[in-house]
Amino acid sequence: MKTNRITELFGIEYPIIQGGMVWISGWRLASAVSNAGGLGLLGAGSMHPETLMEHIDKMKAATDKPWGINLPLMYPEIDKVTDIIIQKGVKIVFTSAGSPKKYTAKFHEAGIKVVHVISSSKFACKCEEAGVDAIVAEGFEAGGHNGKEETTTLTLIPQVRQATTIPLIAAGGIASGAAMLAVQALGAEGVQIGTLFALSQESSASDAFKQRCISLNEGDTMLTLKKIAPARLVKNALYEQIAAAENRGASADELRELLGKAASKRGIFEGDTENGELEIGQIASSIREIKPVAQIINELIEGYNVAKAKISE
Ligand SMILES: Cc1cc2nc3c(=O)[nH]c(=O)nc-3n(C[C@H](O)[C@H](O)[C@H](O)COP(=O)(O)O)c2cc1C
Repeated sequence: MKTNRITELFGIEYPIIQGGMVWISGWRLASAVSNAGGLGLLGAGSMHPETLMEHIDKMKAATDKPWGINLPLMYPEIDKVTDIIIQKGVKIVFTSAGSPKKYTAKFHEAGIKVVHVISSSKFACKCEEAGVDAIVAEGFEAGGHNGKEETTTLTLIPQVRQATTIPLIAAGGIASGAAMLAVQALGAEGVQIGTLFALSQESSASDAFKQRCISLNEGDTMLTLKKIAPARLVKNALYEQIAAAENRGASADELRELLGKAASKRGIFEGDTENGELEIGQIASSIREIKPVAQIINELIEGYNVAKAKISE
């Protein structure tokens, strides 16, 4: 695999980024990915400021390779957390779920590289205007929060490539070397992977969550909660209640109440696989084993090389 603008931007061996994930990507997962040659991201979205500081310190002890932080911009204590990130000397931040304009200048002034996650060409252009260093374009196959418009990775990547010139990372439905090659053919220079790493040994998701996710089949997840913040969820008991409420036209407030507090913590971290929110991507249906991160990355690279050789025959 050759070096490109993404490997050069972050100083990494492979253009493979582990997406920041609430309740999943603490220092164990993120440092394993960075140590294996990718870019690990701490998922700040589910961490109190004190917890984030702890993870930053543990991350520094666990790897001397490049790593970063994913910061969803709807984070309640956003200003406190941006200050912590700057004070702690973090070098790379991936922002999501908000305007790329708001924090890019502040991070750049502190010498931090900024990448923003989007799900449409329109927002990709806003990222370029805001001066971010790279974009993650995420199709609606992806796990976690997602674009309402339901644009797939295959549709999104070539259009974002055409609309912008800055380095482009593809996300959504990528869990093999062949898929990495496919998005490269569409114009991406790197991949951001969530689901596959969420189901690794080093992920801090509960074992019950991981086991449930590796038994999913095609069609077992659905994009839902479009009235609040669209998220792809496993069809469990909680999902069925949400779907029924949505079908009878429930308001955003009613849906919030139904979801209750800390639904994703309950589902992902505590392992309540029926009454918790189980966020995972469509591609989970192709994953059947919980493997260590180093093996996952080796297999991605091998798979990429095999797929490349095959299509050049
Ligand atoms: C359980 C889970 C939690 C996630 N949490 C976040 C998050 O906090 N912030 C964010 O920007 N993206 C989040 N994502 C999205 C991932 O970072 C990544 O972009 C996405 O999973 C890529 O698609 P894939 O799941 O098909 O690999 C989450 C994804 C999952 C599966």
